[in-house]
Amino acid sequence: MNHVISVINQKGGVGKTTSTINLGCAFANLGQKILIIDLDPQGNASTGVGIENNERENSIYKLLIERNNLQQYVKHTKIENLDIMCANVELSGFETEVAEDKNRAFILKGIMDELRQKNQYNQILIDCPPSLSLLTVMALVASNSVIVPLQTEFFALEGLTQLLKTINRIKMSLNKMLEVEGIVLTMFDKRNKLCAQVEQEARKFFGEQVYETLIPRNIRISEAPSHGLPVIVYDKYCAGSIAYEKLAAEIIEKQKKFNFAA
Ligand SMILES: Nc1ncnc2c1ncn2[C@@H]1O[C@H](COP(=O)(O)OP(=O)(O)O)[C@@H](O)[C@H]1O
Ligand SMILES: [Mg+2]
Repeated sequence: MNHVISVINQKGGVGKTTSTINLGCAFANLGQKILIIDLDPQGNASTGVGIENNERENSIYKLLIERNNLQQYVKHTKIENLDIMCANVELSGFETEVAEDKNRAFILKGIMDELRQKNQYNQILIDCPPSLSLLTVMALVASNSVIVPLQTEFFALEGLTQLLKTINRIKMSLNKMLEVEGIVLTMFDKRNKLCAQVEQEARKFFGEQVYETLIPRNIRISEAPSHGLPVIVYDKYCAGSIAYEKLAAEIIEKQKKFNFAA
């Protein structure tokens, strides 16, 4: 229970939000109780599970400022077992508002610890913004582990070394339990030679950290958010959905094997 995972990569458009939503949905379909924390001011995860902008007054921003009455910030989605704490653009001002707070890196951890005590969720997935800013640091401090989506394209591996360094720094200083749970290759195109090369390199450098399951580039995945649905619900049998369900099963197996789940 209460396994907290940050879905993280400082690059935008690599599949963080898509992976958060669809893994969340796949875990929920397997009977796990799941909470998604939308920690990106763009609020794409909130949109992607069908929570409209005008339904987000009780956003994660407000919770990070007020830090009590946790329950009123949880929204149920149309998907059974899947809840979310939403984000809106207010969140972009958060960093400056807490600039004077010496313990700001621990604000989200405080909230996560309270959620852990309540023991309502099997897994909590944090959809991180595309930066290594305070929001991301807070997510890393609050998490048991991270999953890194990596777009299979030429520059994918460059940012990864820096990201892993940051994760390691947080592990050494602020959160000893933090682990890299896995790296997931996204937007894979099997007709593209470069994709195969990037896959090979990633597996060579990061070995078992890279999940076997590849997420294909799939048009249905990109259509789904405009319908406010995870692709797994929008088109259950498309290649993208099948891949995310397979990945979810692989993640759960690996969690058992390495005892990631806290
Ligand atoms: N496997 C995929 N195939 C096709 N489009 C995808 C895939 N994964 C993500 N996308 C699309 O790419 C864009 C960026 O993905 P997103 O998950 O929002 O990235 P991030 O959260 O890292 O910025 C979105 O429009 C999304 O719908
Ligand atoms: Mg995103």
